[in-house]
Amino acid sequence: MNCHHPDEQPAHAPAAEPAPATPPALELTIEKAVFEGHALARLGRHVIFVDGALPGERIRAVITRRRRRHAFARLLEILAPSPQRCAAPCPVFGVCGGCAFLNMAYPAQLAMKKGFLQDALRAWPAVADKLADVLGMESPEFFRNKMVYSFGGTAAEPVLGMHRRGDFHAVVTAEHCLLQSLTARAIIRRVTGWARARGLPPFDERTKQGLLRDLTVREGRRTGQRLVLLTATAPHPDLAALPEVLGDLADTVLLGFSPAAHNASRVERIETLKGPGRIEEQLNGLTFEIGPTTFFQTNTLQAERMFRTLAAWADELRPRVALDLYAGMGPIAFHLLAPGRTVLAVESHPESVAAARRNQERNRLPPIEWLTADVEQTPETIFARQPDLIVVDPPRTGLAPKAAARIAAAAAPHLIYVSCNPATLARDLPLFLRAGYVVERIQPVDMFPHAYHIECLVQFALALPL
Ligand SMILES: C[S@@+](CC[C@H](N)C(=O)[O-])C[C@H]1O[C@@H](n2cnc3c(N)ncnc32)[C@H](O)[C@@H]1O
Repeated sequence: MNCHHPDEQPAHAPAAEPAPATPPALELTIEKAVFEGHALARLGRHVIFVDGALPGERIRAVITRRRRRHAFARLLEILAPSPQRCAAPCPVFGVCGGCAFLNMAYPAQLAMKKGFLQDALRAWPAVADKLADVLGMESPEFFRNKMVYSFGGTAAEPVLGMHRRGDFHAVVTAEHCLLQSLTARAIIRRVTGWARARGLPPFDERTKQGLLRDLTVREGRRTGQRLVLLTATAPHPDLAALPEVLGDLADTVLLGFSPAAHNASRVERIETLKGPGRIEEQLNGLTFEIGPTTFFQTNTLQAERMFRTLAAWADELRPRVALDLYAGMGPIAFHLLAPGRTVLAVESHPESVAAARRNQERNRLPPIEWLTADVEQTPETIFARQPDLIVVDPPRTGLAPKAAARIAAAAAPHLIYVSCNPATLARDLPLFLRAGYVVERIQPVDMFPHAYHIECLVQFALALPL
């Protein structure tokens, strides 16, 4: 077995020796899993990323792409499997881009995700010390309340599912997918059969030809209501039959249009074909209306646990004025409400704010002061209300520098950062530490079993100068 790294070939190798047509296989030991879902091994000073291997495994792999200090390799064989390895309960695991760790025992996934956060925070040992174990799911399957399935294949053999791992242009069927529900699988089968019978062509991003782009399925885990949005490149007479095709599998059916010239499926116009165009979902007994495009946490059960934790922390802190930044449709603001407490909320997406206001009425909640604005542009009058608790829940990109600076300058005694990306959390953290904050506790929550993502709540307190 050849354990020689191609980079280690002597530069002066005799010209007479032809280079091998394929690079030689390497034997590697996986040191750990890293955030983006790769397994990491080392060869001398080089880091090698491999997909499909687990920490501690001895494997054989072949280099597929090489950079100066790191390389990517394809797994050929597992020589010594990890005791955490299990049979993935999905026939397309490894090919489908949806799950990275379906072949790893769930408790080991949780420990690995805590490791992702420890890695991200290793420059601040006192902060990393505050990290609790990840709150995992009791049954980590059929947990997503929203999936966007892409159309692929051909008009004669359409496929509806997820992008193939490493190939954005190929689609792998989601007919066996464990992430959403058995009803979602039935919807996929029915829509695929209809597209095949009618000869409706899937859209191909490379040629910019075709009609069917993607299918969004949203399901209320607590209410059982289902919304289906089909996005096409242009109107087509056959599309009007979609409600009939879906029958009682969907309570409301919508058609969205995203012209072929768009690079991604950016929905320009939406028509409602059946029902009210939105569904309801509940979180800890609060009812939310969910439209086709509004942001809503995709794992209902874990969102409930995360928001209960956040509400319990807020109750301990007893803020008089609490400010929810990046508020979406208001679940955090709603969980912050308490007698004698003023809650302010800032969100940039007008439809989410309008839905939040309706949700507030629907739940007969006390008033919340809403502001539709970018956090970067939040008027000083909001910070002048002197919030004693600021909660931030930014998108994966984290806080924009201007937003982070303004939040830190507000010097609220308590701050809770809800992060869905350890990398941007680690980028934003030093600003708050420099502003005099200390981290009190970090509670990770597994919102995305089998994927590498990890969400966490970080509680900061402003330390008094000595
Ligand atoms: C991760 S979501 C959180 C939403 C809400 N807290 C929840 O749990 O459902 C981030 C939200 O921030 C909003 N957003 C993104 N950039 C923003 C900005 N610059 N200013 C204000 N809101 C923003 C998005 O529209 C989205 O609703």
